[in-house]
Amino acid sequence: MPLELRPLANVGVEVCGVAIDGELDEHTRGALIAAWNEHGILLFRRQDVTPDKQIAFSKLFGPLEAHPLKETTSQEYPELFMLANDPAKEKYMTASYAGKEIVGRLDWHIDLHYTGRPNRGAALRAVVCADEDGLTGFGDLAKAYAALDDRTKTRLEGLEVAYSFSMQRRHMRFVDLASYEPGPYSPRKPSDLGFPNFADVAYPAVVTHPVTGRKVLEIVEQFLDRVVAPHRHGLSNDEAIDLLQELVDHIRQPQFHYFHRWEPGDLILWDNWRAMHCATGVKPGTARVIHRTTIMGDATLGRVLEP
Ligand SMILES: [Fe+2]
Repeated sequence: MPLELRPLANVGVEVCGVAIDGELDEHTRGALIAAWNEHGILLFRRQDVTPDKQIAFSKLFGPLEAHPLKETTSQEYPELFMLANDPAKEKYMTASYAGKEIVGRLDWHIDLHYTGRPNRGAALRAVVCADEDGLTGFGDLAKAYAALDDRTKTRLEGLEVAYSFSMQRRHMRFVDLASYEPGPYSPRKPSDLGFPNFADVAYPAVVTHPVTGRKVLEIVEQFLDRVVAPHRHGLSNDEAIDLLQELVDHIRQPQFHYFHRWEPGDLILWDNWRAMHCATGVKPGTARVIHRTTIMGDATLGRVLEP
């Protein structure tokens, strides 16, 4: 029987009638992989499963990898990454947006983008949900590319864009800084959160997806810094900045987005080589637990720039 897929708002699909802890026959497994490649963002509702089952299900899509932040990995399940609001640590993740204190807000990004080897995908499963806020946004950068006009597509041919890792949001050039104030305990250097110092990374502005062959607009807000050698492409520095701003404005359009309001048991699997994501964050003191599994990538999409 074919999978029942229901389109989500704008991008991605909901997979109906599949219990991920059940026995999935070969046909269903193949159809799920095909749906993931076709749509990039899959939602499965009400999946009340153990970590073992989530891990086993995620392995259908490729081998799993641990996240570089070891301390948040479950000891019992090394392939499971526990996202939980820890009251002792949340002050480091708190900032003010339009005068409101928010914990854990994240701009549009691709996971591990700053390494040049983003993971292939990931699954988030809600265990404890916030009563309000706490949405996760997903954006389809293949659709964003397809929607560009021909002139812009031509301008992007052969162009590379550089991303520069920073812990300080106010140093990111293309995030929306209106009404933003860092919190008093905002991390200032990568080691404050246990990260190494990542060198800058360059990506083609348009990446060909290694599995599906689709063209993906490799533009996200977080860490986006500059066009590499704009003069070689006939662009002045100002024109290069304007082009990046135009592309950021393009990917911010709601027609490429799906924002999910979590219910316990919801699982979203996304293709990190195609879809960006963001988090709206929550009020300080909000209890929230999400279990995450990460599907390893076997392709290098960006190149690390020498400092
Ligand atoms: Fe992320």
